[in-house]
Amino acid sequence: MGADAMSDRSKSPAERAAELRELINYHNYRYYVLSSPVITDAEYDALMRELQEIEREHPELVTPDSPTQRVGADLRPEAVKVEHPAPILSLNNAFDADDLRAWESRNLKLLPPGTRLSYTVEPKFDGLTVVLTYEDGVLKLAATRGDGYVGEDVTANARTIKSIPLRIPVTPDGPVPPRRLVVRGEVIIFKDDFEEMNRAQVDAGLPPFVNARNAASGALKQKDPKVTASRPLNAFCYSIVAADGQTPETQWETLSYLRELGFMVADEVARFDDLDGVIAYIGEWAERRHKLRYEVDGLVIKVDHLPTARALGTVGKAPRGAIAYKFPAEEATTRLLDVEVGVGRTGALTPTAVLEPVFLAGATIRHATLHNYDDVARKDIRIGDTVIIRRSGEVIPYVVGPVPALRTGDEKPILPPERCPVCDTPTVRGKDEVAVYCPNERCPERVFRQIVYFVSRAAMDIEGLGEKIVRLLLDRGLIRDEADIFYLKAEDLLPLEGFAERKVENLLRAIEEAKHRPLPRLLTALGIPGVGSTVAELLVRHYPSLDALSRATQEELEQIEGIGPHIARAVVEWFSSPRNRELVEKLRRAGVRTEAEVKVSPPSEGPLAGLTFVLTGTLPNMTRKQAKELIEANGGRVTG
Ligand code: IVH
Repeated sequence: MGADAMSDRSKSPAERAAELRELINYHNYRYYVLSSPVITDAEYDALMRELQEIEREHPELVTPDSPTQRVGADLRPEAVKVEHPAPILSLNNAFDADDLRAWESRNLKLLPPGTRLSYTVEPKFDGLTVVLTYEDGVLKLAATRGDGYVGEDVTANARTIKSIPLRIPVTPDGPVPPRRLVVRGEVIIFKDDFEEMNRAQVDAGLPPFVNARNAASGALKQKDPKVTASRPLNAFCYSIVAADGQTPETQWETLSYLRELGFMVADEVARFDDLDGVIAYIGEWAERRHKLRYEVDGLVIKVDHLPTARALGTVGKAPRGAIAYKFPAEEATTRLLDVEVGVGRTGALTPTAVLEPVFLAGATIRHATLHNYDDVARKDIRIGDTVIIRRSGEVIPYVVGPVPALRTGDEKPILPPERCPVCDTPTVRGKDEVAVYCPNERCPERVFRQIVYFVSRAAMDIEGLGEKIVRLLLDRGLIRDEADIFYLKAEDLLPLEGFAERKVENLLRAIEEAKHRPLPRLLTALGIPGVGSTVAELLVRHYPSLDALSRATQEELEQIEGIGPHIARAVVEWFSSPRNRELVEKLRRAGVRTEAEVKVSPPSEGPLAGLTFVLTGTLPNMTRKQAKELIEANGGRVTG
């Protein structure tokens, strides 16, 4: 921005930098750990920019815990090995209540007669272990588990994970940590983040990640911290590995203590006075595990009193004082009868297995995804095979693989279709892409899917416009693209079967409301490959109107942290299509908001309060008016 700030001269750069670091770390914690931010994204960005500015001018002021260091600029050198201060143990498994009772009896035999054991129960996160070392409250080292004794230094990557505090405590009133504190946690990717990440991956023509755990592991061990920063990683912390000073006596208090220091600790933890309580509680989890935002593969049951747990010692590489209760596997075998081909909104053709119905994890399964044709070929899945299917959580059941030993010889291979099953256009396959596409932008199924996506909850959220109605409107020729929805009139809808006056009114009201959705929603709804809601927010922050975005070049877009070459190219390509340009124009003419909303807060509040700006020259990504509004929204003043 060509802005000239009359900055606050009362503080030295060192003082202001320290103040900014503290503020940003605090707001990070509000946002990423508590999920309850108290400032806007724009306010946050302004603080960050001010700090970057000071650090650029005074490199000697950069500290390892500065939030600017979350985005590591340097490539990680060859993996550096680090020794853990205490062995990073793993857990033995239990599969039912009997296993747990046997575990408790074994332990009681090792303890003084009359000992009663209380337990803390925690989710068993399906991620990978990270060991975090803080010195005087500053994150100094992050390491993977490795062999339990020696791990790999992943500090630069861990710094990009916003739910890992760079300095503790994160609030001024938090407890003062011991001089040295080593905390253990689990790096995970939330289910919804994972789904979005995989959608973007597939839209970009890249193979999807097999599961969140693999994706998290790959991201944490990346060579380039920038790549790690672009992945939606989070870390749940759950134990203290070593400390110089005093730490809590029980696991239950340890969890609260870690929470107070500012770590992300799961809410789903419980404490019981005896094992019966634990066993009853486990029963509740069959349902509950699927409702969580993160993947759990079991529960961890820990002897609550830590000195007792330590006294129990270890067996092999596992402590006696804790055990993992593993949820029952959610797999079954059945026969693959046929393959149906679906056409997605991007044209991707996806194979779905038609199965002999089988009961699994509480539901009858008739269909399962086969992911893509590469996957089918790699696993050599054939029609007629006995296949293993897996269902975990709300994830759509999928075919794990065939059981070749049960083949009769009559099985038939599954080949990618040569023509689109809907419009008969010859299919295409980009080089190094796993997907097979219908390239016809006007393929009726693609158009239908795109409109359904456009109106969906995640996008423009038009209530009352489900798949059936979209299909009906298309069939009757009342709409041909997304924009036509906004031109619908009562007289178009009233003659339709099942459309009473009331229903028409409601639908038209919902459509009218959707015209005013925030710009990131519209951008998401356009269905540009790789542009889900997170990327859309990011783009709108830099290009506050569709007009501005449509003029962005690939190079400019790639400058944005979190936007890679695939997405940048997809955006440029999308806006270069005449059909899409026309669509945007049609939306605008219908009165759909195509510019970002600028929140105006009362003057003299916000991160720019007390600052005056003069805007000169041309601004690359926004109009002068938009820049002025942005500054004013953050409490600053703009003069001529
Ligand atoms: S406690 C000595 N608590 O599960 C303490 N581990 O299968 C051992 N894990 O290697 C770890 N969630 O990486 C503990 N709430 C939790 C956990 C947890 C996930 C992992 C951990 C461990 C593995 C064992």
